[in-house]
Amino acid sequence: MAVLLTGGAGYIGSHTALCLANAGFEPVVLDNLSNASPEAIKRVSRLTGKQIPLIEGDCTVKSDLEAVFAQYPIDQVIHFAGLKAVGESVAQPLRYYRNNLDATLTLLEVMAAHGCRQIVFSSSATVYGTNQEMPLRETFPLGCTNPYGWTKFMSEQILRDAGTADPNLSVVLLRYFNPVGAHESGEIGEDPSGIPNNLMPYICQVAKGRLKQLNVFGDDYPTHDGTGVRDYIHVMDLAEGHLAALNYAQAHRGVEVFNLGTGVGYSVLDLLHTFERVNGLRVPYRIAPRRPGDIATCYADPAKAAELLHWQTKRSLDDMCRDAWRWQSQNPMGYRTAQETDA
Ligand code: WQD
Repeated sequence: MAVLLTGGAGYIGSHTALCLANAGFEPVVLDNLSNASPEAIKRVSRLTGKQIPLIEGDCTVKSDLEAVFAQYPIDQVIHFAGLKAVGESVAQPLRYYRNNLDATLTLLEVMAAHGCRQIVFSSSATVYGTNQEMPLRETFPLGCTNPYGWTKFMSEQILRDAGTADPNLSVVLLRYFNPVGAHESGEIGEDPSGIPNNLMPYICQVAKGRLKQLNVFGDDYPTHDGTGVRDYIHVMDLAEGHLAALNYAQAHRGVEVFNLGTGVGYSVLDLLHTFERVNGLRVPYRIAPRRPGDIATCYADPAKAAELLHWQTKRSLDDMCRDAWRWQSQNPMGYRTAQETDA
């Protein structure tokens, strides 16, 4: 039986497709390629020795989803597809609400029409909002600070209500913390379009000479060194968390939510200096003003996933930095490198 990965050609989706294929699942990828390259799935197919189907299409277009369900025996879905840039969501809220909520609603309608009753949803720690004690637990109150976060919050609520209405539906909500790193082959990785918003890809591009220096957004936070603290999780640990979630969805009904994080917070400077040490590099940086909307500290309590999913992270910050750099140094221009050589 097949597992549909919406948005599966993206950073987390492609790593999850690799993990599932290696575990004997049959991933089928639907992606509109607005923020992903088909090269990612070509490489996953090469790495796994399995032909992973990639269908170009959009979750907000019912006929695109219908075509996939008509062609493949989909019995589980992992829903990654969605717009995900926090800053962009503030500038374009209606586009974010329309796209991300339409995708979730349309997907659920098509799943119901085809008797597909198991869904894993790509949510985010951003739904916890600010002013929370640490570590974050799944039972904590929610509240978002940007439209992107609200679309995750609202999609969670849509899925909860769908699960309440249909007792045969199995819904697993996964709240990611900060995914970083790449598969150990260096063949697939994070390939942000334009100037990276996130810390690790920015560091990698400075190290590669594509960007001049890192701007550290504030060193006056109430943390051990004044810079922001986050729960960085290796993308392969995150991918394995999705495998565990699929197995849980297969064995249970109802709605469950899980934090996917390490439970350990590292600061910007912790990550920067680890990156320099494990890769033998210097990364120039300057202290810049705080970034609006940033919080001082955010990290997970991952105990529930350990107990119910029998999953916990295995890879260290050293592994995250080493694997991120291998991808960047082997692919200076991301997936475009391949297209250029193909041209
Ligand atoms: C991490 C730390 C910055 C860039 C975001 C989204 C969240 C989720 C993960 C989707 C912070 C600092 C960053 C830079 C810096 N995405 N930083 N210089 O903001 O924790 O989370 O990505 O679900 O929804 O909000 O991640 O990597 O942007 O920032 O100093 O050039 O690095 O201030 O302390 P963030 P990030």
